Amino acid sequence: PANGAARPANRVEHVTEPDLSTTAGKIADLRARYAEAVTASEENAKTKQHAKGKMTARERIELLVDPGSFVEFDEYVRHRTTAFGMDKSRPYGDSVVTGTGTIHGRNVAVYAQDFSTFGGSLGEAAGDKIIKIMEFALRGGMPIIGILDSGGARIQEGVVALGKYGEIFRLNTAASGVIPQISIVMGPAAGGAVYSPALTDFVIMVDKTSQMFVTGPDVIKTVTGEDVGMEELGGAYTHNTRSGVAHYLAEDEDDALDYARTLLGFLPDNNMADAPAYETTFEFETTDADRALNRVVPDSPNQPYDIHEVISSVVDGDFLEVQPLFAPNIVIGFGRVEGRTVGVIANQPSQMAGTLNIEAGEKAARFVRFCDAFSIPIVTLVDVPGYLPGTDQEWTGVIRRGAKLLYAYAEATVPLVTVILRKAYGGAYIVMGSKQLGADINLAWPTAEIAVMGGQGAVNILYRGELKRAEEAGEDISAVRTRLANEYLYNVASPFLAAERGELDGIIEPAQTRVAIAKALRALRNKRAELPPKKHGNIPL
Ligand code: HXC
Repeated sequence: PANGAARPANRVEHVTEPDLSTTAGKIADLRARYAEAVTASEENAKTKQHAKGKMTARERIELLVDPGSFVEFDEYVRHRTTAFGMDKSRPYGDSVVTGTGTIHGRNVAVYAQDFSTFGGSLGEAAGDKIIKIMEFALRGGMPIIGILDSGGARIQEGVVALGKYGEIFRLNTAASGVIPQISIVMGPAAGGAVYSPALTDFVIMVDKTSQMFVTGPDVIKTVTGEDVGMEELGGAYTHNTRSGVAHYLAEDEDDALDYARTLLGFLPDNNMADAPAYETTFEFETTDADRALNRVVPDSPNQPYDIHEVISSVVDGDFLEVQPLFAPNIVIGFGRVEGRTVGVIANQPSQMAGTLNIEAGEKAARFVRFCDAFSIPIVTLVDVPGYLPGTDQEWTGVIRRGAKLLYAYAEATVPLVTVILRKAYGGAYIVMGSKQLGADINLAWPTAEIAVMGGQGAVNILYRGELKRAEEAGEDISAVRTRLANEYLYNVASPFLAAERGELDGIIEPAQTRVAIAKALRALRNKRAELPPKKHGNIPL
């Protein structure tokens, strides 16, 4: 260069060197450097990523944020490592693209790992870029979205790389409950690197092209002798259906980015901001769609129905389900009522009869805590016959792990509106947003059954002698059982008994549910509630 400065390694040769003693020359130099840092490296990234059917880091960001809104940070950052001949290759930007943009016109911060540079691995420079953008997001009170595609800690940088992960984990934790954090996994996320997405609120994985695991197939084979492929071990399907690590199984990269955009549309920018609200014309008259709810609950208590029918008639427009493939016996997700975001938690009678198990409890507990942290009111729809019985559940900690959902509801201070549709038995009645746990408005349909246990179970215990006598007298035992169970349901489990004691605030026709929930949420709009001062509680983990 004309000013005698050392030429950066990897610098693209220019036909004519700009004259750096002039303003025009300096601008030409900037353009040349930008062309090298962004344009040329992007061409290289395209060649490598497209060959694998993947987009580049910048292409992913461009599709995620509003067109033209991306402002890149740190495109001139380069690593300073000399070990293993690393000083011979010091590409601009290192292995991650970071910056800010807007989604639906609202600020977001984003980073996307660039697998085409050192396998997206994270050393000091890439780590510092991620840390800088995370701190910027926290300071600016905007959501952060991380797009992961990386071989993990940069092997050549050893402890420095590990340390940067430590800093990122600490920032993920500091940001938890302050700004929404979304991880989109679009390639490998291996080793301890998986814990950054794990600490974030939502993990989106792309089918077939993303994998997350703490130890890979080779190590597993050596240590335990198990033979397992990368996809089966930690692919998107596995983490969406089995482990519960992921919240959405995207069919491709576009679908993943689209889900993230839609999700952000329901969320506030930070814990001090309101979620976006939209003008709607709310229909206060009972509609035909409302009246259809009067026919949802089957006459037979053992017959299932799809809870989505109820959810979709309560929320305006579309319901965005979260973690649909994991613990489908409970449904969680976001909707809007009168244009304002609500979190919905609902038992699903068509899956395992809507029983609660460990997975369902943990899935719902984390969702309650997310909604509470970001001041999103919670609507709970209850149809739960109880906890799933079994040694497997008891021995894998249904007591400790099931307590999470109780804890989450009990400490929530957001508006809580609960509607009991049908079964609400035993501990499951209490945990699903009961009055005693702190819900503000509790309603029930006339089909509700609220008691310590279901009719058949109760009859077996209460009328053991009577059933035996009937059997000995040669009576039709199942008819006697049904008569006694019906009596029990009428005398003990009727929602009017709960209403009589004020445990329910009202009993409504199913057709009134949409309007009743909207009015309840209106009444609670200025809810104020406080917990006693403490450093933090000790949720059973
Ligand atoms: C440095 C790495 C790297 C790494 C990949 N590369 N991972 N460089 N550090 N961790 C480089 C490769 O050398 C290669 O460089 C380029 O990236 C592409 O990698 P390939 O292996 O050719 O790609 P592919 O076949 O697609 O395999 C991807 C992969 C594999 C499965 C991710 O690269 C891999 O197993 N990498 C190591 C994964 C790992 O064990 N990381 C450490 C995890 S522990 P060239 O120059 O040939 O293109 C960890 C701790 C986190 O991360 C800290 C927590 C506290």
